[in-house]
Amino acid sequence: MQDYRALRIHRGDDNDFSVAVESVPASTLPDGDILVRVHYSDLNYKDALGAIGKPGVSRNFPHTPGIDAAGEVVSDSTNQYRPGDRVLISGYDFGMNTPGGLAQYCRVPLQWVCPCPPQLDLPEAMIFGTAGLTAAMCLDKLARLQHKAISDTRLLVSGASGGVGSLATAMAAKLGFQVIAMSGKTQAHDSLRALGATEVISSAEWLEANKKALLKPQWDCAIDTLGGDALFNIIKATEREGAVAACGLASGADFAATVYPFILRGVALLGVDSAEQANDYKRKLWLHLATDLKPASLRSMCEEITLEQVPDVLASMRAGRSRGRYLVRVD
Ligand SMILES: NC(=O)c1ccc[n+]([C@@H]2O[C@H](COP(=O)([O-])OP(=O)(O)OC[C@H]3O[C@@H](n4cnc5c(N)ncnc54)[C@H](OP(=O)(O)O)[C@@H]3O)[C@@H](O)[C@H]2O)c1
Repeated sequence: MQDYRALRIHRGDDNDFSVAVESVPASTLPDGDILVRVHYSDLNYKDALGAIGKPGVSRNFPHTPGIDAAGEVVSDSTNQYRPGDRVLISGYDFGMNTPGGLAQYCRVPLQWVCPCPPQLDLPEAMIFGTAGLTAAMCLDKLARLQHKAISDTRLLVSGASGGVGSLATAMAAKLGFQVIAMSGKTQAHDSLRALGATEVISSAEWLEANKKALLKPQWDCAIDTLGGDALFNIIKATEREGAVAACGLASGADFAATVYPFILRGVALLGVDSAEQANDYKRKLWLHLATDLKPASLRSMCEEITLEQVPDVLASMRAGRSRGRYLVRVD
């Protein structure tokens, strides 16, 4: 194998960070079971944080980001896959301290690899990516506490114009929920209705801490990508015996809380971490994404970009200006 193209993040002498596409030697690939030629990747908020050197994402520089990849097996020392098999890699340490998917090649352990379901092509798989797996896992966790018919259930999605939010909106609408999409972008309201939201509300009044112990119940369950005080406001406005799946921190990591929504309304707070889930569970989620959760509008939910365009899009993600999913054509 010769040099290959990769997006690389460099740390400068002043602890500043630069991102550019480079040709890198094959020796930069780590040891591992499976060598994959990457055709598509995508962008997630974690990549945006990694590009400015957030230590929770990567501490090794230069670093190849990209927490998702879809491609074809080149070689597999475990003989589980054959050359040419279509595979998906998401989460674990991929694109963190291990070189990731925004590169023509990656090498990973067997346990990080899932077969791509036949119902999905590689671009579709990366329109979903980690965002789709996370939205699917939120829906799965909420379903375990579901006590009303889906068609009678009001489900709130916050950060609805973002990657996780837009997929959660479309997938929940496909399942038959009454989806209330919460967004800070008035210009996204029409597209959220087109994805299947029955109601769209502004996030503005939900972001600041509110002194009231409880708020008027407005939804039965919620998928929250914002975190911070918005998360606790959403919990306080959840119906009796409802549940909130918390998966993000786009608005903040900290929030002040009381026990009232939990002990007076029985609301459940469900944490969601898609990255570290067992390979078997990820395979099940991929199969759901490929079948019952796949929105008819999936192809229209992304903007396709090249590796060279990635640095600008990561900056707009950090500024909260991005919309929907970004599919990165790598090869
Ligand atoms: N737990 C997990 O396994 C997991 C997996 C994937 C992602 N995540 C997390 O989920 C969150 C969403 O990820 P993503 O990839 O969907 O990101 P994204 O595409 O950047 O979407 C985030 C959305 O949140 C809203 N937002 C952004 N900044 C905000 C701010 N300062 N205040 C209020 N709203 C803001 C915006 O939506 P509106 O303008 O429509 O409100 C934005 O589109 C991130 O925090 C990410 O780290 C977690």
